[in-house]
Amino acid sequence: MRLLLLASGTGSLVQAVIEGLADTGIEIVAVGSDLADAPVLQKARAADIEVFSAHPRDYADRAAWDQAFTETVAGYSPDWVVSAGFMRILGTAFVSRFGGRIINTHPALLPSFPGAHGVRDALAYGAKVTGTTIHLVDEGVDTGPIIAQFPIAIEPDEDEAALHERIKIIERRELVRFLRFLEHSTIEVSGRHVSGYTPSAS
Ligand code: GRF
Repeated sequence: MRLLLLASGTGSLVQAVIEGLADTGIEIVAVGSDLADAPVLQKARAADIEVFSAHPRDYADRAAWDQAFTETVAGYSPDWVVSAGFMRILGTAFVSRFGGRIINTHPALLPSFPGAHGVRDALAYGAKVTGTTIHLVDEGVDTGPIIAQFPIAIEPDEDEAALHERIKIIERRELVRFLRFLEHSTIEVSGRHVSGYTPSAS
């Protein structure tokens, strides 16, 4: 199974995936980013994984970036693409090329609190429970079919950084578990409904 990871930031999710799949037959064929200086690319290089980056501002328009990004990723022939902390919305060309094979983790219980600030938005709303969602990517913002969700209670007076870190501990563990499952099994998608994967109790 060929896996391609996309990320924009520090890359703790990517690091967890690299380490968590090391004893499997899953090959991480590349780590891609929108940011050439994203720390995640250093982590990937240190693990001897190929990296690439492309930022929309270096292209004539968003469609040109989308097309180029799609072609670059297609060149690695991935079976699955994982958006593991990739902070940009994937374009139409990308989603039509890899649709049904793109996985994202979002740090909230979708459909609540989509977008770039899921943790902050849950806190601002006064939610008592939030969590993380593993889902397929479609053309919307965090709107694709849900694969699995993991709730977490918000502590009184918890700040965004502390809550996000607690969520990320679950994201790392559960993303690795799901990818390990995918090596030997598959999911079925019917409309919004995804079946075939039952997260194990932890
Ligand atoms: C994760 O919470 C992910 O869900 C969100 O960005 C975070 C990535 O963190 N989209 P890191 O850069 O892997 O530490």
